[in-house]
Amino acid sequence: MNEIRIEKSASLKPKPDASQLEFGKLFTDHMFLLDYSEELGWHDPRIVPYGPLTLDPASMILHYGQAVFEGLKAFRTSDNRILLFRPNKNAERLNVSNERLSIPEMDEAAFVEYVKALIAIDRDWVPSLEGTSLYIRPFIIATEPCLGVRAAKQYLFAIIMSPVGAYYKEGIHPVKINVENKYVRAVRGGTGFAKTAGNYASSIKAQEEAKHDGFSQVLWLDGKEHAYIEEVGSMNIFFKIGGEIVTPELNGSILAGVTRDSVIGLLKSWGYPVTERKISIEEIRRASEEGKLEEAFGTGTAAVISPVGQLHWEEHTMTINGGETGEIARRLYDTITGIQSGKLADSQGWNVVV
Ligand code: COI
Repeated sequence: MNEIRIEKSASLKPKPDASQLEFGKLFTDHMFLLDYSEELGWHDPRIVPYGPLTLDPASMILHYGQAVFEGLKAFRTSDNRILLFRPNKNAERLNVSNERLSIPEMDEAAFVEYVKALIAIDRDWVPSLEGTSLYIRPFIIATEPCLGVRAAKQYLFAIIMSPVGAYYKEGIHPVKINVENKYVRAVRGGTGFAKTAGNYASSIKAQEEAKHDGFSQVLWLDGKEHAYIEEVGSMNIFFKIGGEIVTPELNGSILAGVTRDSVIGLLKSWGYPVTERKISIEEIRRASEEGKLEEAFGTGTAAVISPVGQLHWEEHTMTINGGETGEIARRLYDTITGIQSGKLADSQGWNVVV
């Protein structure tokens, strides 16, 4: 790994009131940059004052969307340590996305070191109030100026950071979700499993329509049969049906969430039966009708654990657990945030100290 050049900002921004933080609106004083060229590979790691990027208008990212990103969080403990939650999983997934988007692989250990180096410079930005954290957004864009459709030969890897509160305004209170029956997010063989900008761009229209109708998000069904549950775009989804906890299996069109993986591990360690399998929306409707749909919740880095109080699919409205936060969602939320913030023992060794 090359040594990181550091150019400190001459003027630091005032820190926000942690009780007023929203998601992803404010950014810290510095950012991390790293270039890629065919001749030099990934090179010139540097931390510079946060600010606009200069891009050639022919940069391939602007035309063909060759871009990947990650999302992870850092937390401040009561004894003032800074903990990162499972950054190695993000490094791994970044390379899975890179491979799908024909972007050159990154050294995973270097990725974690770059994240740590940037946090170390801006460590005063990690909030300590319960429910807050420093959200870290690494991303890669194709910067080569060229209008031919092919893999770019030049890229920029950057990391920016934002102190955040809850992703949904509801926080840990249940959200209302619309099951999308017109648009699709991803198809088998497409890019659904990759964290790439285009997946999110194509999801916005459905999300806008759902927002207009009073829902927080949409639940995506599979692109072929429009029958099987996939994910919620900003989170993976779990259901408790008649005692069994189920989540859609990773099938190539679903993002492999780090929180999803952590939740499966925790539930198994608590002795719950957890199954990763195909789940049809009709199965959920039937379970709801028969009074067996006990809980539903989403999992994600930004969303943490987000209980689902109501699902709306075509003419069916399914109210789950009386619209209240379920016991499992609450226990998972408390455990994950407890481990992340250093309040609970990290028996799985998930935290990395900055
Ligand atoms: C995350 O949970 O980190 C995400 O990337 C979801 C969303 C904010 C795009």
